[in-house]
Amino acid sequence: MSTAAAVLERCARLGEVSEEPGRLVRRYATPAMREANDLVSGWMEAAGLAVSEDAAGNLVGRRAGVERALVLGSHLDTVIDAGRYDGPLGVLAAIALVERLGDTQLPFAVEVVGFADEEGVRYPTAFLGSSAMAGRFAPAWLDLTDADGVTMADALRGFGGDPEAVATAARPAGELLAYCEVHIEQGPVLERRGAPVGVVTAISGQTHAELAFRGEAGHAGTVPMDVRHDALGAAAEWIVAAEALARARPGLVATVGRLAVEPGARNVIPGVAKLTLDVRHGSDAIRREAIADLRAEAQRVAAARGVGLAWDARGETAAVPTAPELCERLADAVAATGLPVERLPSGAGHDGVAMAAVAPVAMLFVRCAGGISHNPAESVAEEDVAVALDVLERFVRELA
Ligand code: HGY
Ligand code: MN
Ligand code: MN
Repeated sequence: MSTAAAVLERCARLGEVSEEPGRLVRRYATPAMREANDLVSGWMEAAGLAVSEDAAGNLVGRRAGVERALVLGSHLDTVIDAGRYDGPLGVLAAIALVERLGDTQLPFAVEVVGFADEEGVRYPTAFLGSSAMAGRFAPAWLDLTDADGVTMADALRGFGGDPEAVATAARPAGELLAYCEVHIEQGPVLERRGAPVGVVTAISGQTHAELAFRGEAGHAGTVPMDVRHDALGAAAEWIVAAEALARARPGLVATVGRLAVEPGARNVIPGVAKLTLDVRHGSDAIRREAIADLRAEAQRVAAARGVGLAWDARGETAAVPTAPELCERLADAVAATGLPVERLPSGAGHDGVAMAAVAPVAMLFVRCAGGISHNPAESVAEEDVAVALDVLERFVRELA
């Protein structure tokens, strides 16, 4: 079996490790994450890596070497009803690379990392694992609760981590040589360009918020239309306006991914509509301006309909450029395989956003079918994974 086929086989095996039968869901510090870490830990050990888990639950496999460590990896958590490649591909490709390196002496250590949370699905904060490693983990996050009221501290303790010691997961700046991640593109650009891989130039910044429109619940049969304060009507008007606002600005994306209506009955006018907002752009200035406009529009809609509005900011990450020198080395490695060098920005967030605080960051995207991701239909070709492994191997050997 080729190395690429073996990587895909492991992605499939890991894709069976889920919180739910029938669909892939693996959130931070759940029993499914424990099973995933144990499974990947076995593969790391078989590759000759010394395995440990840090206090935040990140899985680390270290290949001994002198001086600073080159960190390779991605995340092992998933979204809800996920595909099998978003995250795991980067971890399993890194383990395969270590297997390929065999006894090769390198003038640096190599660490393969499976970050414990990147998606931010269980708690309303993303990049938890890489933030801990980058020394950017805010202790207040430990008090956040999941949908069942379980605090992050309790979940982490149950997982085998140590909430009191998360700070020990931090790696001092200067200790790491670089962070390089292989990841599926999650968009259609490489497919359109006919390229199996591409070098990532930057990772878009993101703003997250939770909105609540509060109107007045009432009888669906008796309250005339002109006196209603329908919270869902307000939310709907604003969602459509937000879509138009994003469409009018090149490169801007705005998504309402979750909507909850209360009390939620066929014959009751919605009293409350709560929703999430995710806005991204490669330019922080354009993203922030868009957020101000979206907020003003929400206030206008709420006032016009006589409903209340709560806008709860849930944080933002700035756009992060990848390190130019590493990008050039990655581009050279692509060129050495005989392929044209494709460069593209990432609209998706990645652990490199956090890791950029402690190491220069590089990313290699792998073409995925139809650009489909965050969807069980996510798919990559074995030939493309083979190219990615060749590029990664050349990149690592040339860094020596
Ligand atoms: O949401 C994102 O961009 C990433 O997939 N976590
Ligand atoms: Mn994802
Ligand atoms: Mn990902």
